[in-house]
Amino acid sequence: MSPAAAEAAFINRSGADARLTVAGLNHGFETDDGVQTTLFAGLNFNVRAGEIVSIVGRSGAGKSTLFNLISGLLSPQSGRIEVGRRADGSAGRIAYMLQKDLLMPWRSVLQNALLGIELYRKVTRADIARAKDMLARYGLTSVIDAYPHSLSGGMRQRVALTRTLLVDPTLVLLDEPFSALDYETRLALEDDVMSLREATGTSVVLVTHDIEEAIAMSDRVILLGGRPARIEDSVDVQLTTQGPRTAVSSREAPEFRTLHKRIWGGLRSNNIDHAGATT
Ligand SMILES: Nc1ncnc2c1ncn2[C@@H]1O[C@H](COP(=O)(O)OP(=O)(O)O)[C@@H](O)[C@H]1O
Ligand SMILES: [Mg+2]
Repeated sequence: MSPAAAEAAFINRSGADARLTVAGLNHGFETDDGVQTTLFAGLNFNVRAGEIVSIVGRSGAGKSTLFNLISGLLSPQSGRIEVGRRADGSAGRIAYMLQKDLLMPWRSVLQNALLGIELYRKVTRADIARAKDMLARYGLTSVIDAYPHSLSGGMRQRVALTRTLLVDPTLVLLDEPFSALDYETRLALEDDVMSLREATGTSVVLVTHDIEEAIAMSDRVILLGGRPARIEDSVDVQLTTQGPRTAVSSREAPEFRTLHKRIWGGLRSNNIDHAGATT
């Protein structure tokens, strides 16, 4: 099959409910010493409506660059990146949450939460009510007028998550959002993201170093590796949980260990093959 035909077949397969289509993506950087590095050479990747996909891969694999390209912070050298429309035909919207919460220190919790909306339109009374509701759901009512410096790491990250979700995104990109948090807070935030998907049908792509987190939260885990980076494994996650699927019940599912072993094995051989060391 010619590359063009392969791409057409891929696009047809991705179907009408694709929230994100990345097709034939090429991108690279020139390093400081003038060497050209090709990070992506014909990468294809898609996300369905309401799907949670995790991306794992060693440091430097290109995960954050992929997010920068998807979100439009970087323009790809070539290839297609398309965000699917909503059911009513209006444009989809990507919300991108970085590892660092990037709260504005001079703004209160409520003002920080509303910042995402402010960037593209006037804040309405309904937005403020929605922000307060969401902050309440995350246990932040008592600190609504407080400033970020007085909050714990978990609270700050929840404010950042509120800001990300208030823009009513169709696709949320989370780049190692919970890595600096303690275990309990991390489990609670994993549940928050999963219930968001249940409630709104938002698609989520999550970059994480934590294989457990990837399995617990996702419908699919993708292993990104090599240079240029390619999808080295794609693992469908189906878990038998006691009751609803949560951060905790997922980890107790009988399939969990097998999936963990497969992804861990992939990461290890990836690190040895391509980086010469396990990181
Ligand atoms: N602006 C840039 N200029 C040059 N090289 C870059 C730039 N951004 C990222 N890189 C390089 O691209 C590779 C992938 O980086 P990144 O996407 O941050 O990886 P990951 O998020 O998977 O750890 C790394 O080797 C990094 O040094
Ligand atoms: Mg990164």
